[in-house]
Amino acid sequence: MNSAHRIQELRTQIRHHDFLYYVEARPEISDREYDALLCELENLEREHPDLITPDSPTQRVSGEPIGTFETVTHRTPMLSLANTYSREEVEDFDARVRKGLETDAVEYVCELKVDGVAMSLVYENGHLVRAVTRGDGERGDVVTQNVRTIRAIPLVLGNGESGMGNGESGRLEVRGEIYMLDADFQLLNQAMEESGEKPYANARNTTAGTLKQKDAREVAKRTLQFTAYWLEESSEQRGVSSEQRTHFDNVQRLKDLGFPTGRDVRLCRNIDEVMAYINEWDSRRDTLPFQIDGVVIKVNNLRQQDELGSVARSPRWAIAYKYEAKKAQTVLRDITLQVGRTGVVTPVAELEPTLLAGSTISRATLHNEDYIKDLDLRIGDTVVIEKGGDVIPKVSAVVIEQRPAHALPWHFPTTCPCSHQSPLHRPDGEANHYCTHGACPWQVKRRLEHFAARDAMDIDGLGEKAIEQFVEAGLLQTVADIYDLGAKQDEILRLDRWAPKSVERLLNGIEASKSQPFERVLYALGIRFVGEGVAKVLARAFRNVDALAEASKEALTNVHEIGDRIAESVVEFFEDASERSIVDRLREAGLHFAKDDGDVATDDFAGMTFVLTGELETMTRREASELIEARGGKVSGSVSKKTTYVVAGAAAGSKLEKAKDLGIEVLDETAFKAML
Ligand code: IVH
Repeated sequence: MNSAHRIQELRTQIRHHDFLYYVEARPEISDREYDALLCELENLEREHPDLITPDSPTQRVSGEPIGTFETVTHRTPMLSLANTYSREEVEDFDARVRKGLETDAVEYVCELKVDGVAMSLVYENGHLVRAVTRGDGERGDVVTQNVRTIRAIPLVLGNGESGMGNGESGRLEVRGEIYMLDADFQLLNQAMEESGEKPYANARNTTAGTLKQKDAREVAKRTLQFTAYWLEESSEQRGVSSEQRTHFDNVQRLKDLGFPTGRDVRLCRNIDEVMAYINEWDSRRDTLPFQIDGVVIKVNNLRQQDELGSVARSPRWAIAYKYEAKKAQTVLRDITLQVGRTGVVTPVAELEPTLLAGSTISRATLHNEDYIKDLDLRIGDTVVIEKGGDVIPKVSAVVIEQRPAHALPWHFPTTCPCSHQSPLHRPDGEANHYCTHGACPWQVKRRLEHFAARDAMDIDGLGEKAIEQFVEAGLLQTVADIYDLGAKQDEILRLDRWAPKSVERLLNGIEASKSQPFERVLYALGIRFVGEGVAKVLARAFRNVDALAEASKEALTNVHEIGDRIAESVVEFFEDASERSIVDRLREAGLHFAKDDGDVATDDFAGMTFVLTGELETMTRREASELIEARGGKVSGSVSKKTTYVVAGAAAGSKLEKAKDLGIEVLDETAFKAML
């Protein structure tokens, strides 16, 4: 098959899998298989740059960073919805609609009101040409480059299952909501906090902020979703007379065109059915993986919609029913400090206990100094607490009118709340304060807790309470002391609530933890910025602790996914003599500090970059790429100084020349296979 043909085929396949994944949520292939398709397409396009088209799945991130966003006028204004809060108000809406239309023959469609950012997408001849924010409703910002990175949004129309929509001609506009899944929001915020940056308030703000990024590559790093709820195309395009057109059909049509649509778009014949929908989702909204703030109720018939028209900035044919916000007011009694295992000091709001969305809240994180300053939070203030995408409640605002007369601004304490009272330090450019005293009992406890936790060494019997007791009794100071507890059974038995049986369980738990694999041990050590994922990458790349301990910052950053921040932290950790002695003691205790020989095959190529050129005889280029990646290597499309090997098959051309110029080692197929 020639390349042009294969490129077309790959694009169609990738679009189909995008549709299954993002729209239907029923992927048929693994992420790995998907990546292999994309990789093959990228490689082919690199070889044939003349065949690259803007709508290729590889071209989602394109163009230079934007200076300022261009503003354009919406062909049809983007309206907002009037809000209702009760059945009576919904009944009033229904009465107004029927009066306005002079008929009782009205059907409604109910949809979830996703809490995100409205977006208008314009397609010409089936291609996405423009994405525009709502702006003031009349004019919005052009954010096409950013929106193109969202994989749920088709760049070309017509990958829907029914096969309709292929070869769309003319202009077509789709509107919908761009939003973030709660899980993605939480991951992002965790990363922000870990790196000492200010966390985002909620998923909606994060989405809005992301869409206003000047560099589309930054947007591509975030996972944004889309749901379409509005379609405008001429009747000729549809071949259906306007009399019969309905919103419900439009939603089906959007689906056929390849767009994700609402999770539960329901046709309702009367207000009882509308209320049933509202009540059903009020009780089920917590089961959704994203935030909704209500339900949208729309007149189904499009001719009736036209007839009703709009008043001020809102349509007369639709309203929003808003759910009660998960908010409450309470009094801030105090601000205390919590010390984490890496010494990060987090301020915590101590609140007058209050009920919020079914649970009693008495504490909430305040993240860092800036968060408190931005809110101008003072002890004694009445505050608004909120439960959003986070399961954890947060303080979102101050009720200034209720501020006590003498409330003073709060200042970050200068010393650690622990018994050592060591000075706190806020590094330049960071939002976090740190307690730099390694023996701070709070840090010691957090480190032990982290080490013994289920996702780390998983030591049965060594929970928070036991750790607290052991630290107080002087039995534990570092994680290495855990493996000496066997010799201290008598002392343990003298502590409260300990009996021979529970001691036996603890010692069995400790013994069992010795079989945890290297990556778990590495994660359990609690090196700053080395989470579970990073620990796996490091274990794969360096295979044993000695190699890792000797690795320079450069060697570390050469590993895919390891950046400066992580590399510096790893180097710092192993430069610390006390940390090294802990590692030595743990090794003596019998913990795994090397990858099993069994998985040798998985990382031989770590840190290496291969370039494939020419035709290989015994495997396709894609297979070769997979074999390299399975061993932790990278495959690149162009030869540079960073290239480790060029694998040259028959009829290799300019890349081979370049490799020779740069003095890069060239492997023929036999040599390559020997390496494998
Ligand atoms: S229809 C004229 N449907 O709510 C009607 N809007 O206040 C236009 N929204 O700006 C909107 N889910 O950002 C509609 N299923 C849905 C929606 C929805 C969320 C947002 C949208 C709009 C705002 C209206």
